[in-house]
Amino acid sequence: RGAERLRKTVVLVGMMGAGKTAVGKALALRLGVPFLDSDHEIERAANMTVPEIFARDGEPFFRLKERQVISRLLDEARGVLSTGGGAFLAEENRRMISERGVSIWLNANTDVLWQRVRHRDSRPLLRTANPRETLENLFAERQQFYAQADIAVVSDAGASIEDMVDRVIAALG
Ligand code: S3P
Repeated sequence: RGAERLRKTVVLVGMMGAGKTAVGKALALRLGVPFLDSDHEIERAANMTVPEIFARDGEPFFRLKERQVISRLLDEARGVLSTGGGAFLAEENRRMISERGVSIWLNANTDVLWQRVRHRDSRPLLRTANPRETLENLFAERQQFYAQADIAVVSDAGASIEDMVDRVIAALG
């Protein structure tokens, strides 16, 4: 049912802490389609965690793997694809995603993002002296790219995962 209704892969983009993985899983379940996660696929292929890949091979290597994995996942299955927060910044990724998927920006403000990421140690880009300021700066730089997604859905502090799924489905029409 969901798979028939889904003509293109739904690609979730946006900042760390926007809920791409949690909302993506719940959305895929609701639609009855596969859930795909680019960070997870990169980790599986490398047999390393994202922080380990950044530390050992550097961010450019991670971005290369990210592009390859997104391309493969867009070809392989029609479903819901959650991407890492930096994926939609690269023009080539935006092009692949807009050709083969429908992109959805989960847009949360930095207060909400910070509450969700502050206790996690899984984001190498936030391992700085002032991670909150880093998060704010990243958001300020990246907003212009996320805004190029096909659809924007607001993720506010009061929204549950199921609320977000409802909003995404409503936005998909
Ligand atoms: C990144 C976000 C992370 C992960 C990597 C880089 C980013 O994914 O891909 O740490 O550049 O914003 P999440 O958005 O799932 O945290």
